[in-house]
Amino acid sequence: AIFGAERRNSQGWNLDIAHQAEPFFAGQARFAQTQWLAGPLVGGELRTPGNPVTVVSPQNHNESVGQVHFATVAEVNEALDRAQQAFPLWNATPVEQRAAALERLADLLEQHKDELIALCTREAGKGLQDGIDEIREAVDFCRYYAIEARSMMAKGTVLPGPTGERNELFIEGRGTFLCISPWNFPLAIFLGQAVAALVTGNTVIAKPAEQTNLVALRTTQLAHEAGIPVDALQLLPGSGAEIGPLLTADERITGVCFTGSTATAKAINRSLAARDGAIVPLIAETGGQNAMVVDSTSLPEQVITDVVHSAFQSAGQRCSALRVLYVQEDVAPRMLELLKGAMAELSVGDPALYATDLGPVIDANAQHKLLAHIEQIQQHGALIAQTPLPDNAEQGHFVPPTAVEIQAIDQLDQEHFGPILHVIRYKAEQLPQVIADINATGYGLTLGVHSRNEGHALRIASAVKAGNAYINRNQIGAVVGVQPFGGQGLSGTGPKAGGPHYLTRFVTEKTISNNI
Ligand code: SER
Repeated sequence: AIFGAERRNSQGWNLDIAHQAEPFFAGQARFAQTQWLAGPLVGGELRTPGNPVTVVSPQNHNESVGQVHFATVAEVNEALDRAQQAFPLWNATPVEQRAAALERLADLLEQHKDELIALCTREAGKGLQDGIDEIREAVDFCRYYAIEARSMMAKGTVLPGPTGERNELFIEGRGTFLCISPWNFPLAIFLGQAVAALVTGNTVIAKPAEQTNLVALRTTQLAHEAGIPVDALQLLPGSGAEIGPLLTADERITGVCFTGSTATAKAINRSLAARDGAIVPLIAETGGQNAMVVDSTSLPEQVITDVVHSAFQSAGQRCSALRVLYVQEDVAPRMLELLKGAMAELSVGDPALYATDLGPVIDANAQHKLLAHIEQIQQHGALIAQTPLPDNAEQGHFVPPTAVEIQAIDQLDQEHFGPILHVIRYKAEQLPQVIADINATGYGLTLGVHSRNEGHALRIASAVKAGNAYINRNQIGAVVGVQPFGGQGLSGTGPKAGGPHYLTRFVTEKTISNNI
């Protein structure tokens, strides 16, 4: 009833239940050695230009996962031509057929979950629960947007008009969307962007993150199997720096949907604005400097459970992740003691193992930047706790979960996208300053509040600029149709993914005033 008669969010798989866990682990074992191949998927054909790059697991430099061929200018051009030519027919296809293809795709994702989760684990270093969550979210996006598109587009809206004149408002696709997706949700966000654009009648050029082309390729193939025409969805693996500017400058791209860093979103915006032709919309979901504010009425055990989950799940590589924990001074000693205890219990290691809490970070570049930040930030504060790495950690890109006490949020020069938690103590009378400091970062993605004084919690939640505020719970893992996700300010343009307004930015409106 919560989701209406037509839709239920995906249930996922519970690895604590033996009859679900056994087939799940058998499924993972089947793909433990698989080598995948990816390249540009143009007109439904896998191309293999140039020399392939070998993909290795973030958790083990010796584990090859497959090979990727990057797109050259020839594939970029051909894909753009095909997408442009395919648009009129796909846009004229009844929304019911497009929506039905998304629903078939949702079923296929569930049927292929073993392979897709193995890919998330082995290519992106994601844990098993993260892999399950990717499938669930991708499935939910497909089913949710299918329903939203039907209700928005199945027929025109008749508007009042002078006697004899029929005024009707129609909604249709914009053309070809460029969807640029991140490595941290290589399945859910990759697909969420693409299916939102497709179901509203657009054709799509998908440019996945350089680190996660294999899972993107398999997902695209499943979309074709579900009935998305091969020219309506094409995949261009490639270096963002090389093919990104070619794509954003090209007049054949009539909309861009991007998830990634704020700096890249701004670069895309500049490139779109510099074009001579049409004004092109950009939907950008970017980073955050996400805070949680904890007061002295909160329940310490619940706070710490939610802090650890929000800061360290997915090795902190979520744009929603908690970065700055504000703890009221009088409860800080007890909270920090509990935090140390909880961090000592974390297990860092192979993400394919059930017992692992945190896997690696995505690559050497991320690892080096995070380790340098851990060094540098200690000039401003004191180490609270650091979870040790396993003995064989040097074979992968591991960063130890770390909590550091600092004095002020502006000691952080930028978002640090990994398992690093910053803690700041505040006195009750400093709360207005805390709120002002959080807002002064310019970001506005997630906020956590822990307080048993509901009026107080709601006042903080409304005063802090944030797209998603969570009270007395963790602050990650927004659920499609339940917590529409996305931020404001430096955190993005909106509209929120998985929410009732998301599809509106992918479409154009036409009013026909008919006096016949
Ligand atoms: N949608 C994701 C979350 O809420 C984004 O990082 O965690």
